Parts: sequence; structure tokens; C-alpha cells
Amino acid sequence: MSTLFQKYGGFGTISKIVMDFYDRLLDSEIAGPFFDDIAMPRLIDHQTKFIAQVMGGPAAYSNEVLRRVHAPYSIDRQAFNEVAGILNATLQDHGVEAEDIGFIMAEIEARSPFVISTS
Ligand code: HEM
Repeated sequence: MSTLFQKYGGFGTISKIVMDFYDRLLDSEIAGPFFDDIAMPRLIDHQTKFIAQVMGGPAAYSNEVLRRVHAPYSIDRQAFNEVAGILNATLQDHGVEAEDIGFIMAEIEARSPFVISTS
């Protein structure tokens, strides 16, 4: 049994997916503005580790840390869904299998209580 992280080629492939993901996020009218003032290289590095984590690779973000970093942004359900939807489409376009995307999206959804801070 290998992890999804290994199956899809480790950090090399994951980095490509994350770069594409962030290009799409910045183009989004709903999600883009949240990232206006953030240094992208830093965020891409963090997001790479996060995606690797939900795919079974090495990295660690506790729910408490996720809550703390997102709390200042007043993220609502609509913005969360936009980001999740863009990730889903990006994974599809990089050839990640539907079953694996289902697993990853469930992991993302499980973090929603720690990312969403406003209704
Ligand atoms: C389950 C969904 C999400 C996960 C797992 C996630 C994960 C992360 C991680 C790991 C970081 C880096 C934290 C650090 O600096 O160490 C981060 C930062 C950030 N996230 Fe998310 N995120 C999610 C959803 C969202 C959504 C929906 C938005 C906005 C609509 C968002 C906006 C941001 C912003 C603006 C930062 C930069 C924080 C900073 O550097 O000050 N995130 N996120």
C-alpha cells in the first residue's frame, strides 16, 4: 500500500499542482482578494506541505494552527466552497483519479470548521 503522496510522485508533482491551484485562486473573483496581500512563495510552500499531508505525505498542520492562521480573514462558506471547488478542478486536470480526489476533498471538508469563521 503506497500513500497518494507517493502514488502521484511526491513533492515534485504536488508542487506543480499547488502552483496551478494558486494561479487559479488568484483569478477567482470570490477567492482572489483574500490572497492579495500575501507573499505567494511562502503560501505556496505552506500549501504544498498541506496538500502533501492530506495525501499521506510528511507535514503537519494541526487544526488549531489552521484556525489561528485563518481567523483574521473572516472566511465564509461561499469562499471556502470556491477554494475547494478550484482545488477539485485542478486535481482533475492533473490526472488525479476520481476516487483519490474524493478522499482528498473529504479531508479538506473535515477542516472547514477551522477555516470558516463567519456565516
Ligand atoms: C481546508 C481548506 C484550507 C486549508 C487546509 C488551508 C491551509 C492553509 C495553510 C496550511 C496555510 C499556511 C499557514 C501558515 O502560514 O503557516 C494557509 C494560509 C492562508 N489561507 Fe488557507 N487553507 C484553507 C482554506 C482557505 C480559504 C477558503 C481561504 C480564503 C478564502 C484561505 C486563505 C488563506 C490565507 C489568506 C492564508 C495566508 C495566511 C498568512 O500567511 O497570514 N484558506 N492556509
